[in-house]
Amino acid sequence: MNPPRGGGQRSPPSRNGPAALIDLAGVARRYRLGEVTVTALADIDLRIGEGEFVVVLGPSGSGKTTLLNLVGALDTPTSGRIVVAGTDITRASRRELAAFRRRSVSFIFQTFNLFPGLSALENVAFGVDVSGRERDGDLVARRMLEDVGLGDRVHHYPHELSGGEQQRVAIARALATRNPILLADEPTGELDFRTGVQILQLLHDQTHVSGTAVVVVTHNREIARVADRVVELSSGHVVSDAANPGGPAGFAELTW
Ligand SMILES: Nc1ncnc2c1ncn2[C@@H]1O[C@H](COP(=O)(O)OP(=O)(O)OP(=O)(O)O)[C@@H](O)[C@H]1O
Ligand SMILES: [Mg+2]
Repeated sequence: MNPPRGGGQRSPPSRNGPAALIDLAGVARRYRLGEVTVTALADIDLRIGEGEFVVVLGPSGSGKTTLLNLVGALDTPTSGRIVVAGTDITRASRRELAAFRRRSVSFIFQTFNLFPGLSALENVAFGVDVSGRERDGDLVARRMLEDVGLGDRVHHYPHELSGGEQQRVAIARALATRNPILLADEPTGELDFRTGVQILQLLHDQTHVSGTAVVVVTHNREIARVADRVVELSSGHVVSDAANPGGPAGFAELTW
């Protein structure tokens, strides 16, 4: 992997600027549990543009995973409108949503969601095959696994890999799809510091290489230092949304 370095600064897309890749307006997600209503997200307005590296920061239970699930059309909001990569996913048909999930958004899940019966290579090649962007899934998958430092684990099954290795397979699978939006839920949660920084660098590079919008959610404030922009969530509300003052820190400056 390349040595860590910092990234360029971009300002958030303005309300009147070019169309955002991700656009949430007045979005809320509430859960009814018997007599009780849990508000996971309330009144969220958020626009994210092409090539932005955004960190969504918030404590456990603040609504981070809920937000990613809504953007990826894995869940539907109780109210509000969500337009992602030109598709209004709050109004789309099942058929449109199926195409959207395949071609627009790649997920790195908090719980990895690897297929237990597929090897590391097959798990990653599955991502390539679903998106349909590359012909030789195995070749791309092997390259991606090398990029995340797992070139010598390609034929291992998930139960033969450590937690951090499984997380890196999930990251390789998401990267291999080459979709324009990458959503990463605590992508360094299982990783040691050095590997974590390398993975963040790899995610960050996607914004420059292919203009991917990368959204990383985490409770780790240190990770937010390398973002172009930091959105803070607290109890389901956006409490701040701003570029890092003085620009993003270099990856070599991180410690946790
Ligand atoms: N299916 C559900 N039914 C009821 N409440 C839910 C459900 N899913 C999430 N919640 C609640 O919504 C809130 C936000 O949950 P979410 O998983 O988005 O938090 P998070 O910020 O990702 O937390 P963590 O850092 O622990 O992963 C929590 O209070 C949670 O209990
Ligand atoms: Mg979560």
